[in-house]
Amino acid sequence: MHWETCAGHLLDGDRSLGATTAVAVVGLGYWGPNLVRVLAERTDVRVRWVCDLDPGRLAVIARRYPAVGVTGELDVVLADPEVEAVLLATPVFTHHELARRCLEAGKHTFVEKPLAPSSELAGDLIELATERGLVLMCGHTFLYSPPVRAVRGLIEGGQLGELFFVSSSRVNLGLHQRDVSVIWDLGPHDFSILLYWLEELPRSIRAIGRASIVPGIADVAFVTMEFESGLVASVELSWLAPSKLRRTVVVGSRQMVVYEDGAPEPIRIFDRGVVYKDPETFGEYHLSYRAGDIRSPHLSNDEPLSLQLSDFVHAVSTGQGDPRGLMLARDVVGLVEAAEVSLREGGTPVALEGNRVTSGAG
Ligand SMILES: NC(=O)c1ccc[n+]([C@@H]2O[C@H](COP(=O)([O-])OP(=O)(O)OC[C@H]3O[C@@H](n4cnc5c(N)ncnc54)[C@H](O)[C@@H]3O)[C@@H](O)[C@H]2O)c1
Repeated sequence: MHWETCAGHLLDGDRSLGATTAVAVVGLGYWGPNLVRVLAERTDVRVRWVCDLDPGRLAVIARRYPAVGVTGELDVVLADPEVEAVLLATPVFTHHELARRCLEAGKHTFVEKPLAPSSELAGDLIELATERGLVLMCGHTFLYSPPVRAVRGLIEGGQLGELFFVSSSRVNLGLHQRDVSVIWDLGPHDFSILLYWLEELPRSIRAIGRASIVPGIADVAFVTMEFESGLVASVELSWLAPSKLRRTVVVGSRQMVVYEDGAPEPIRIFDRGVVYKDPETFGEYHLSYRAGDIRSPHLSNDEPLSLQLSDFVHAVSTGQGDPRGLMLARDVVGLVEAAEVSLREGGTPVALEGNRVTSGAG
């Protein structure tokens, strides 16, 4: 399955009538209940277990979904032969260990982003899933978002012209993570979107930031990337901002796009730009500004998480995973790692080759 076309499978309806996939959701903190909600709404899925170390969180879900089994032990889930797939929405640093246990128990596995706490461990999971012939998917939800897909269509179709730069801000007040920096928490969203749009890894990345509130855990970071094609990108990430903003600007030689997640018009395409006239023709260089129309295409309101889980259920029911999606998930982890190296080194550029960090200061 070609990963960027995954959502095309969603409504195929090619599962045999009445067949259901039995699943378990592990981790019921902020995000896990969303997985339970979306899965419980599907007629082709049976949520057989929910699992969390915290009995209070289990009790909340048990009240809402009385038919679902509750347990604090992943082993109980894994020992149930009816469970075909496990979805993990636990903290980042548990992803590798828990996903490995699921795969070893023969379960198809969905891991919330990022796939693993290092690209080496991400590679280990991918290898294990491939060896066992199991589906492994990472929860890069934004890749299923209609605006993100529409921007990719514009880039692919050449409407924007040569891409000059991308600049994004993902900031909000709150949801400080206890175990990871803001780069591990929010960076995977923007990094996955950039890789999906550009189909190119940056050749170098740098990051500065600071731990303003909790010592040792950066809550604001400014990450910049340079690409072989000449494109430059900047990503601002923060849990410490007066209001929520999720906005990305893509500037090309022909057109520019503003993508603002959650806005009534999530995409605005500006037919604007600058034309540079060669000094050889005019004696000195000449700039003329083009200010054309602003267009806001109609987009579907489909919930990205619902599209993504449809894809996962489809993959489980056909046994067909998505190797390119996994490569992207591993590359995202590589970018986070490299940005973290740069952050620790005070913002020195870190070169990337393939998805490997090849140099950093010190
Ligand atoms: N796709 C998205 O848009 C999106 C959005 C938010 C969070 N996430 C991801 O979801 C994951 C969880 O984030 P969160 O904000 O919900 O975290 P959280 O801390 O709010 O919740 C994590 C839950 O996992 C439970 N847990 C921890 N270890 C466990 C174990 N061994 N067995 C069972 N339960 C265990 C904890 O008790 C807690 O209830 C992270 O990977 C995060 O990056 C994804």
